[in-house]
Amino acid sequence: MKIFSGTSNQLLAGRIAGHLGTKLSGLEVFEFPDGEKRVRILDRVVDEDTVVVQSTSTPVDENYMQLFFIIDALKRGGAKSVTAVVPYFGYQRQDHIFREGEDVSVKMVAGILSRMELKEVVSVDFHSVKIREAFSIPAVELSALPLFAKTIKEKGLDEGAFLVSPDMGGIRRIKILSELLGDMPYVVIEKNRDLTTGAVSADKFSGQIGKKAIIVDDMISSGGTIAVAADLLKKNGVQELYVFATHAVFSSEAPKVLQASGVNSVYVSDSVFVPIEKMFPKLEILSLSQVIADRLKS
Ligand code: R5P
Repeated sequence: MKIFSGTSNQLLAGRIAGHLGTKLSGLEVFEFPDGEKRVRILDRVVDEDTVVVQSTSTPVDENYMQLFFIIDALKRGGAKSVTAVVPYFGYQRQDHIFREGEDVSVKMVAGILSRMELKEVVSVDFHSVKIREAFSIPAVELSALPLFAKTIKEKGLDEGAFLVSPDMGGIRRIKILSELLGDMPYVVIEKNRDLTTGAVSADKFSGQIGKKAIIVDDMISSGGTIAVAADLLKKNGVQELYVFATHAVFSSEAPKVLQASGVNSVYVSDSVFVPIEKMFPKLEILSLSQVIADRLKS
């Protein structure tokens, strides 16, 4: 099996290759003066099973185009099969029409990948159950939740804690994690988001609040959802607060917002590469490389 990486998350791709007892195969990405890109694979792939690892995080469109070009180069190079590992699948929040006149972006990108004759697409913690249905090829959804459960137990964060979903959309996620943690109790916050400004607010929740909370979300983008949830929980007597989120999208001022929020620590996976300038003292990164490598081995 030959593993290639786009430029979005070479750290994770290298770790996956390491677990599979190999190194990343060579790939060149050339940028023309007008910004167009050309990719070139530097390894022979004739009759080989190949894997391309590329998170379609910021810059989303650029990373998608690169993924499409690498797949095309692998197919033209004679690869027997191509598996696309897209740990963070960009555009998944636009999974339906929220307001009249909108597109359904995730169906467009999943549709393009579906037409590329891939063996399968492997991703992690989709935003909703609708995402898998957007593909007409096998789409495998791995999860960071077992890794989160293991970390919560190892660090003793589970003692006397309850889980929190910061919005109604996270109920499926919170139920799975609760089960992994021996039916840990959970609370669901009613979040509102202004679709024009993106501003988040929350003043209601259902469930019994205690003193130690673990907020779980699929992604952190602006950090607004976490900051608002943290405020609400603190106002209601929570003293210790931890956050576990799969995808560290970290747009705009997210690192500052999270560092300034009332949370003790923020745990994310490495589905999205976090550059040094977006690191902050409360942040801890857990690797999905073993989980992804195990799937590729199977
Ligand atoms: C929304 O439904 C998602 O599950 C996340 O809660 C959301 O995308 C986080 O975005 P932000 O960090 O910008 O509030």
